[in-house]
Amino acid sequence: MAVVLGIESTAHTFGVGIVSDGKILANAKKTYTTEKGGIIPIEAARHHRENKEKVYFEALKEAKIKEQDIDAVAFSQGPGLAPCLLEGMGFAKDLSRRIKKPIICVNHCVAHLEVGRLAGAKDPVMLYVSGANTQIIAYASGKYRIFGETLDMGVGNFIDSFARYAGIGFPGGPVVQKLAEKSRNYIELPYTVKGMDIALSGILTNLRRKLESGRYKLEDLAFSLQETVFAMLVEAAERALAHTGKEELLLGGGVACNSRLQEMCKIMCKERKAKFFCPPPSLLVDNGAMIAYLGEILFKKKIYFSWKQHDKIDIKPRQRTDEVDVKWR
Ligand code: ATP
Ligand code: FE2
Repeated sequence: MAVVLGIESTAHTFGVGIVSDGKILANAKKTYTTEKGGIIPIEAARHHRENKEKVYFEALKEAKIKEQDIDAVAFSQGPGLAPCLLEGMGFAKDLSRRIKKPIICVNHCVAHLEVGRLAGAKDPVMLYVSGANTQIIAYASGKYRIFGETLDMGVGNFIDSFARYAGIGFPGGPVVQKLAEKSRNYIELPYTVKGMDIALSGILTNLRRKLESGRYKLEDLAFSLQETVFAMLVEAAERALAHTGKEELLLGGGVACNSRLQEMCKIMCKERKAKFFCPPPSLLVDNGAMIAYLGEILFKKKIYFSWKQHDKIDIKPRQRTDEVDVKWR
């Protein structure tokens, strides 16, 4: 029985997860937040540096294991913010060297997807909606293919930018959801689906103008933002289901915590008799457990580097989902 430790540090969260036999033994994390304004990469990296030891020991304690019990160390290699990724990789290499155990490189987006198996999904279309990423992904002949994606910004960053213009701190998503729940007054916004892709920057500009005009209530704008953009996502996801013939939809990424988005996806799936899967929030947001989970799958297939091969490993800030060779399926 292997024990794999996973490190997540692509953006705002430093997470350490521990998995054994597909079971999550620990999922410790600490997230960089701000009262006002967005995420600053160097600041987030500093946050990781200051908290990594603490999060690591918390994970060991939660899993009731000792450092010597770890059989391999997995880490998020990309995509993500370079200063943050470097903190995670540095930590992974130090640990791997100290315990003389293999190191495993994991793609962050694919980890979001694979951990959906714990929710029961077998061969889903995945709607992956996080801060930096918005993609509709499905497995087809050896790769996770991107069937649709955002043409400009990730939906989480889009919501966080709107929140910043409105004077709300980071992350804005949960606050925008609360505001939206107070309104039923729909204000017309541009609706931009292009084939299976979506575009968000035009809607953001439109919302910003509306905010600055002072003529609209913030909760009405929050409500209209959610109704418009989530409908766009659901439309593109439905088209991917139809196109691939798959019968499962899996949600992933931090924005998937949004209960209105979940509701809209459920309705769509019910209408076309597809199954709907959504992991718990602790596995939706960035977390170390999903890195450990995919790490263990790779470990069992011997897809790793020994602790003497660290010079062969670097971060991949711009790695794309469809660049990853899915040799483990
Ligand atoms: P990635 O590196 O995968 O692109 P990420 O690092 O930004 O993603 P996640 O933790 O997956 O991180 O997602 C964070 C995003 O989720 C933030 O933009 C946040 O506003 C958004 N979010 C969290 N909860 C909600 C919610 N209830 N409604 C909408 N958005 C939410
Ligand atoms: Fe993520």
